Amino acid sequence: MAAFFLPLVMLSSQAYAMPSFGRTVADYVDANRASHAGDGIISIEVARNPNYAPNGLAEYSRALVKWGAGTPGPMGGVAVNKGEVGALDATPFNGDREYLSPVEFGTPPQRLIMDLDTGSADVWVYSTETTPSDVGSRAIYHPSNSITAEKIDNSSWHIEYGDGSAAYGNVWRDTITIAGVSIFNASIETAVDVSRSIVDDPYMCGVFGLGFSLPSQITPPRSTVLSNMLPLLNSNLFTADLKYQSNGTYTFGHIDSALYTGDTIYYTPLLDNARYWEFNFTGFNVASSTAGDNEAADRDWYLSEWKTIADTGTTLVLVDDDIVQHYYDRVPSAYYNETIAVWTFPCATADLPDFNIGFAGVHDWSARVPGKFVNYTALPDSHDNSTCMGGIQSNDGLPFAILGDIFLKAVFTVFDVGGKRIGFAPKALVA
Ligand SMILES: *[C@@H]1O[C@H](CO)[C@@H](O)[C@H](O)[C@H]1NC(C)=O
Ligand SMILES: *[C@@H]1O[C@H](CO)[C@@H](O)[C@H](O)[C@H]1NC(C)=O
Ligand SMILES: *[C@@H]1O[C@H](CO)[C@@H](O)[C@H](O)[C@H]1NC(C)=O
Ligand SMILES: *[C@@H]1O[C@H](CO)[C@@H](O)[C@H](O)[C@H]1NC(C)=O
Ligand SMILES: *[C@@H]1O[C@H](CO)[C@@H](O)[C@H](O)[C@H]1NC(C)=O
Ligand SMILES: *[C@@H]1O[C@H](CO)[C@@H](O)[C@H](O)[C@H]1NC(C)=O
Ligand SMILES: *[C@@H]1O[C@H](CO)[C@@H](O)[C@H](O)[C@H]1NC(C)=O
Repeated sequence: MAAFFLPLVMLSSQAYAMPSFGRTVADYVDANRASHAGDGIISIEVARNPNYAPNGLAEYSRALVKWGAGTPGPMGGVAVNKGEVGALDATPFNGDREYLSPVEFGTPPQRLIMDLDTGSADVWVYSTETTPSDVGSRAIYHPSNSITAEKIDNSSWHIEYGDGSAAYGNVWRDTITIAGVSIFNASIETAVDVSRSIVDDPYMCGVFGLGFSLPSQITPPRSTVLSNMLPLLNSNLFTADLKYQSNGTYTFGHIDSALYTGDTIYYTPLLDNARYWEFNFTGFNVASSTAGDNEAADRDWYLSEWKTIADTGTTLVLVDDDIVQHYYDRVPSAYYNETIAVWTFPCATADLPDFNIGFAGVHDWSARVPGKFVNYTALPDSHDNSTCMGGIQSNDGLPFAILGDIFLKAVFTVFDVGGKRIGFAPKALVA
């Protein structure tokens, strides 16, 4: 899912351009080194949610709202109700809309299925404090069933989105166990009210923010769960191996060489004062999979520097318009549907080209997103499911690109907090 649990004030281009928040993750670290369930070598399975129907349009719209770009174009296919985005009915199409992982809260542990989100910093859950109509049938956190839970007085979180929707709640202190590591006295944000567009995802029980050097939205400020976790790990990093239509893996404090091929991880420094996982890519190329086209493709590298964010909580790849144009120029049947402001193509289109992205001087290494991955989902209201939505779309003028799951499932990614860098390596692809 495209989590968008950050307030507009954090996301507008203006706020974004402000000097960094000025604090590093280390500044947030509490005296919280006591607990460690293991040896710092841990991993967690990422379950692709096979049942939840993606709604490509709502997805795209939410991603843009999350990042402060508003909703795309005229609102044709995107129902906007009472200030909420994406209230379009979910249509039953399977797809890699979101990746969910089990995380345990409290003592004894209560297991909730969470969306690990490198684009935000808050850890929030549905709980006994949440409006019952928001809860539905999903699992929730029961602080009263946890002997280690303690409510934090006069502490709250409150988020308002660009579309006027909001989420807010209270804050508890309790143990969080993720991938075998127990983090004591972590701040757990318990939702009181959650906007309808979030509630409409029936499986996700909360968002687990893993943002880099980004404050949470708790007032008064508290250290983030990630910053509390780092001292418990062997290395100040975590990795993501998301997979095309199958279960992938997150690891914490450890790089598992079985998760990538070759013996090199290609690192790119984060931008100065980065708050998000923000770095540059330095080239792109659109390579038709048609035999014989590779030579031409090799010549067609576009070189520059594009600021970009790696976000596990965004489904799609959102890039500058000219890049989007270059991509779909190579898909003869593709067309831009102005009503819904997205690039589409007939689902039967046989040869979507690969999208290659270069880092640190392109010639060092480039990641290949197979054309198949760019075939995100059939549009919910297209006749006989015959029109598909591309996984590469416009970032709607944002000052940075977003490399979401469409990209991340094509690579093995190292989120190196300590090294202030991001690493990519090739891996065996399911596709
Ligand atoms: C994927 O993960 C889920 C949740 O852990 C599990 O129920 C399912 O069996 C896994 N699927 C495969 C193919 O391993
Ligand atoms: C919480 O706020 C109330 C009202 O402002 C105040 O009386 C109380 O002392 C505060 N409690 C704590 C623990 O800060
Ligand atoms: C958690 O915080 C409470 C209240 O500040 C404190 O009494 C307790 O010792 C802390 N537990 C750990 C493991 O740090
Ligand atoms: C990223 O690109 C911008 C724009 O070209 C450039 O000013 C900056 O130095 C680059 N940063 C890194 C870390 O490469
Ligand atoms: C554009 O999208 C709208 C809304 O989904 C749809 O009704 C219309 O048929 C699409 N246009 C074309 C040319 O496919
Ligand atoms: C695109 O995905 C749809 C299902 O979402 C599938 O029916 C179609 O065959 C795919 N097309 C290509 C070219 O892979
Ligand atoms: C579209 O696809 C979904 C999921 O695959 C299916 O349930 C639905 O019946 C399909 N609709 C049409 C008109 O084919």
